[in-house]
Order: sequence, then C-alpha cells, then structure tokens
Amino acid sequence: MTTIIDGKRLAARVREQAAIDVSELVEHGVHPHLAVVLVGDDQASATYVRSKLKDCEECGIASQDYKLPSATSQDDLMNLVEHLNADPVVTGILVQMPLPAHLDAEKVIAAISPDKDVDGFHPESLGCLVRGLPGLRPCTPAGIMAMLDEYGIELSGKNAVIVGRSSIVGKPMAFMLLERDATISVAHSRTRDIADVCRTADVLVVACGIPKMVQGDWLKPGAVVIDVGMDRDENGKLCGDVDFDSAARVAGAITPVPGGVGPMTRAMLMSNIVQAARLQLGRAL
Ligand code: GUN
Repeated sequence: MTTIIDGKRLAARVREQAAIDVSELVEHGVHPHLAVVLVGDDQASATYVRSKLKDCEECGIASQDYKLPSATSQDDLMNLVEHLNADPVVTGILVQMPLPAHLDAEKVIAAISPDKDVDGFHPESLGCLVRGLPGLRPCTPAGIMAMLDEYGIELSGKNAVIVGRSSIVGKPMAFMLLERDATISVAHSRTRDIADVCRTADVLVVACGIPKMVQGDWLKPGAVVIDVGMDRDENGKLCGDVDFDSAARVAGAITPVPGGVGPMTRAMLMSNIVQAARLQLGRAL
C-alpha cells in the first residue's frame, strides 16, 4: 500500500503550535509581527500574499502589508526594507517574489536583516545552512523535512535525488538532506538520463516546474516521492511535477498536489515568524 503523505493535516498542527508559541511570546512582551511587501499587480502573487496574511491572523501574528506600484524604483524598495529592518515593531520581513524585471531581487534579499529573514533566502541564512549552523531555513525544504520526519522516513545512508536547483528549493533541500546523512544527487535541465538518476532515489524531491514530468517508471519501487510542483495539466487542472497516478503505483509514499508540500510551505512560514521573533528576544534558535 502506498502511503499518501498528508501535508494539509500536518500543516494544521504546525499552525496550532505556532499559535501556542505566539501566545507565549506575547506573555513575554514580544509580539511577532510580519511586514509583507508586494510590488506590482501579479495576481498569483497577490493571492499568495492574501493567504500568508490570513495564516498570520489565524496564528495571532500581527501583520502589515505594503503594496507598491510596478514602477517602484530599486532605491525606494531598498529604503522601505531599511525602514522595516530598523522598526522594532516588525519582527519578520517578506518581500514577495518574483519582483518586476527592472528590480534586482538579489540586492533586495541581501538588504533584509538576517534576523528578520522569515523566508530564509538571505545569503547569511543560506550560509548558516551550508555550515550546519542555526538560522532561519527556507520554508519549502523545511516543510519537506517536517513531513519526512512525521512519517518516520529514515534518511541516513539513503540515496536522495533532488530534481531542480533553485536557491529557494533545490539547493537548500540538498543541504538539509545532507545534514541528515543522506547521499545527495541534484538533477537539473542539463542532466543526462534524468530518468536513470531518479531511479537511484530512495527519496526523490521534484521541483522542476514541468507538469507531470516524473513518471512511475522513473521510480525505484518503494521510493518516497515529494512533489513540489504547482502546475496545470493539459485540461487546466492543478497538478504537480510528478504524474501522480503512475507514480503512486510504484512509490512507497508520495505527496499529493494539492494537499502535500504547498500547505507545509505556508505553515513553515508561521513557524519561521515565531523563530525570528525569538531571535529578537535575544534567544538562540
Ligand atoms: N514567491 C513564490 N514563493 C515565495 C516564497 O516562498 N517567498 C517569497 N518571498 N516569494 C515567493
């Protein structure tokens, strides 16, 4: 029997825990407070931001959102980030990506104070991950680790293959799995015989953005399959980067889309906001 990994259920528990942690922080006089910056009028980004603000409300986290026009200059955006860094009320900062093409996202990310970097995108946050030091971790790979742990999936000595090498998912995922003693391969658009590489995986994380790319016959029987994709199939229906029907016949465990990685990414943001607020209390992570 293939286990369907229920990200939605675990995400609800993570949010409940975040709400408990928030009440404790408030008792100590620390009020977790997220500032969200959205530049431009991309509808998908606006929807993501609304969900994040709703999650904050559910967890008792205060929030403020800044909606800036598409024509915002780099200087104006950098000034806003500096202002939020300096504001003691703001404990977490999130600049929604992607930014309009004329803006340098790397500069913006690097300007966010690492203590308030609830996305875990700052070079210092990623550097801490690579060095094995405590720090804020990117939400998607952190959510995947939480799911693997929840389902008791052993990682030490296992072959983990990650498809996709983004700074948000693929690269940090590789280091988180490495930290847990898995043997890592990162496959990408230039990888030869990608299906063969996937067949070596005991744990396969797919984050390539191509609808249903990974097929059941790309899998080792019993493999754990984590699908980060949020795509649309030929009929416009939401699907992942893995062909769920054929993969579920071969995998030992698999995340569905929707209801797998997506809810966990959202929930881990709440957990990161709590952690960032603790950092501002002067507590180590
Ligand atoms: N755009 C898509 N996903 C994310 C995310 O996790 N954080 C930010 N800041 N932007 C995104």
